Amino acid sequence: MAEIIVNGGNRLSGEIAVQGAKNSVLPVLAGAVLCDGECIIHNCPNLSDVGTSIKILRGFGARVKYQNNTVTVDCRSINNYKIDDNLMREMRSSVVFLGGILGRMRRAVISSPGGCELGPRPIDLHLSALKKLGVLIEEEHGFLNCNAENGIIGSEIHLTFPSVGATENIILTAATAKGVTVIHNAAREPEISDLADFLNSAGARIYGSGSDTVYIHGVERLHGTTHTIIPDRIVAATYMSAAAVTGGKFVLTHIMPSHMVALLHAFRESGCDISVKGKSLTITAPKQILRIPTVRSLVYPAFPTDAGPLVISMLTLAEGTSVFVENIFENRFRYINELNRLGASIKTEGKVAVIEGVKSLSGARCVCPDLRGGAALVVASLAANGESQITNISHINRGYDNITGVLQNVGADIKIKE
Ligand code: EPZ
Repeated sequence: MAEIIVNGGNRLSGEIAVQGAKNSVLPVLAGAVLCDGECIIHNCPNLSDVGTSIKILRGFGARVKYQNNTVTVDCRSINNYKIDDNLMREMRSSVVFLGGILGRMRRAVISSPGGCELGPRPIDLHLSALKKLGVLIEEEHGFLNCNAENGIIGSEIHLTFPSVGATENIILTAATAKGVTVIHNAAREPEISDLADFLNSAGARIYGSGSDTVYIHGVERLHGTTHTIIPDRIVAATYMSAAAVTGGKFVLTHIMPSHMVALLHAFRESGCDISVKGKSLTITAPKQILRIPTVRSLVYPAFPTDAGPLVISMLTLAEGTSVFVENIFENRFRYINELNRLGASIKTEGKVAVIEGVKSLSGARCVCPDLRGGAALVVASLAANGESQITNISHINRGYDNITGVLQNVGADIKIKE
């Protein structure tokens, strides 16, 4: 099993071009299923989750090519509406393909997505919304058999929680429905707007994305289009925390600062100097990281749950004690024990983590429990004295395109040992 080896202690500096957003590529590829023509999607990072999505598309019968961060997909030859059970298990977020294949084939068969490392990942909000749109859903033997052959009918939907995935699945299903669909209490994440922009460029009529009320006027068909994926705000936060913990200075390019307001506030509160210019920012670490009294993860535009592990990793070296409250996922702290193996002093109680700053961290052997927890271990190891070995790195490969190469280029002593 490959592992990442880090010899910490280097002060990192340099320029990093931030990759495209994983959580935008996935729904946009699902949207391509709706299009009666070739879709060219630029700025797609080279991730295992993108690879899994391409396998799902090919399983439908689509023709897909991936070259130089561009995915070219043609769904005109689609002839299947089942998502392979193994692929569903490989990537829990493949549930977002449900809306795309339903919208195109009016049928879909998927296995009930299990939980994941972050805890149970229910899809009750997705399913109740699809039923309101006229989709008949039968659950048997762990499979969901969805049938919309009587048509998809626009409807008013109120989400009891602004679920990102449910909002995306409703938009994908309603894009070619009869009539208008309104989503109340929709998720407002930038990835929702990127999906809407992609679909509108293919002929859809979606209004209000990015706000809590989204209107989808169903259209007959969608055509091929070209689209560029937005930058990954969580990967940007990851590299910002790497600069902070190593007393470094980074220029991050190809970012969207307007997607990162809550993140920039948190890093500034920890004493980092951040100057923003167009689609770039320069972050300079403070001599001593300051504690942040309380950080709370909430839905966008508040502080994002996915960046929690990265900011906690940074706060392990802060002067004083910080508190992080995780309000989105039940089981987001599995990496904390691994951070403590590196010398951090963190206690968790339910959804609260209390991070007591320490003077230094020391290298250790750690196991990645999930994607962002794994990234947090890499960040902490960059500051730890001595060598760290980080295993189970397939989690990291799901969301980071060549993280070791990127960090080597800014001075980190980091490599992959096969
Ligand atoms: C998306 O997951 C992201 N994944 C997650 O990123 C991100 O953490 C999350 O949104 C929140 O921002 C992708 O976009 C592929 P939710 P999603 O539906 O859609 C509960 C990463 O690290 N819920 O907004 O699954 C759910 O259990 C990943 O890149 C229901 O109860 O998030 C959770 O507690 C991790 N019923 C909360 O809502 C439902 O039907 C947030 O879920 C759906 C969700």
